[in-house]
Amino acid sequence: MDDNMNMVLSVVIHVFIGSFLVLYMPISLLIKLVQRLFIRPFEKEADLKGKIVLITGASSGIGEQLAYQYAKRGACMALVARREDALKAVAKASLSLGAPDVITLVADISDPEESKRVVDQTVAHFGKLDHLLANAGIWGTCLFEEITNITAFTKMMDVNFWGAVYPTYYALPHLKASKGNIIVTTSVAGRVPTARMSFYNASKAAMIRFYETLRSEVGSQIKITILMPGYVVSELTKGKALQKGGQVEINEDARDIQVGLFPVGQTEKLAQIAIDSACRGEEYVTWPDWYKPFHLLMSLAPEVLNWYSNTFYMTQSDEKQSILIKRILEATGAKRYLYPNSILSAKKE
Ligand SMILES: NC(=O)c1ccc[n+]([C@@H]2O[C@H](COP(=O)([O-])OP(=O)(O)OC[C@H]3O[C@@H](n4cnc5c(N)ncnc54)[C@H](OP(=O)(O)O)[C@@H]3O)[C@@H](O)[C@H]2O)c1
Ligand SMILES: *[C@@H]1O[C@H](CO)[C@@H](O)[C@H](O)[C@H]1NC(C)=O
Ligand SMILES: *[C@@H]1O[C@H](CO)[C@@H](O)[C@H](O)[C@H]1NC(C)=O
Repeated sequence: MDDNMNMVLSVVIHVFIGSFLVLYMPISLLIKLVQRLFIRPFEKEADLKGKIVLITGASSGIGEQLAYQYAKRGACMALVARREDALKAVAKASLSLGAPDVITLVADISDPEESKRVVDQTVAHFGKLDHLLANAGIWGTCLFEEITNITAFTKMMDVNFWGAVYPTYYALPHLKASKGNIIVTTSVAGRVPTARMSFYNASKAAMIRFYETLRSEVGSQIKITILMPGYVVSELTKGKALQKGGQVEINEDARDIQVGLFPVGQTEKLAQIAIDSACRGEEYVTWPDWYKPFHLLMSLAPEVLNWYSNTFYMTQSDEKQSILIKRILEATGAKRYLYPNSILSAKKE
């Protein structure tokens, strides 16, 4: 194609998509507003009695709270994670909240065989599968250049990305049969660049793209809800993350730098909203609400976010103290108001 042809085509496509958006956006915004103001407040909680739900990463944090919300609505569950004791405790609490039947399956979902086993055992026990919650994940908060054991970071992709894809692959036939739902926990970080989370946000971005594509393939049969939480209370916001040397440890200093001045939300509320939205067939859920404008900022002015990260999260020297966001956090004492007590260790403050 010659240059002139290229330019003509570019102008035609810009004008075409531009005019489409000018017509489409007001209509779509109006519909959303009407739904939000006049329809949603009167909707009843979705009826999940007798539904079969598989949750990965159910031993703590978001997965644990998702289990309690499903339990309250009378769903049966298969709970998956590696820590058996923690899983058993969540199962017991779920039964007392109203779940008719709960099984626990100890598995590492980054292993395809174990993912298959987990799906097979769930269907063998309950006879079907209605909701798959691909929620398990690990976090990392160090600068790319600080990493001393780079090979350890393949784990981030193995758990976050492949650990969602494998169970999805094996569950798909069952979900098609039940016209079921997939709910996948990604993160605001998958859309908005934040320094120090290169592998984490890359793994989450990969998940978002993957499930968007899957939706374009099976969306008429299975509803796919992409959950993009901001910071909420869990082991992750207690500081548990893959460290630069490749080991998983709790590091509160790194957590403070990363979470910075963002308030940490209540996980119970997130779980409630996630389930209601999924039952309505919503495609994206961002919560806490105030993270939503960041999507807009990211698509319209990504340079502003890069500037923000660079100013507040980076430092020239290795001194942790010289990181601006940490100095602000300490000088204002804001941590006490922004972070719930449950994620602060007793020894500090
Ligand atoms: N909390 C936040 O602010 C936040 C924000 C955005 C996104 N998220 C995402 O939310 C999801 C849940 O995390 P969380 O915040 O609830 O943190 P969490 O309390 O650390 O929970 C992570 C869960 O994943 C499980 N898990 C980790 N590796 C696993 C593996 N290889 N196989 C099976 N299970 C595994 C853990 O159980 P075991 O250790 O027992 O295996 C645990 O149940 C993650 O995908 C995370 O990226 C969290
Ligand atoms: C790097 O991490 C990998 C995976 O956790 C581990 O097998 C390896 O021993 C680590 N290497 C060093 C030098 O610590
Ligand atoms: C992930 O974070 C890095 C900085 O650490 C940033 O350059 C990149 O754009 C981010 N990616 C996404 C998808 O947010």
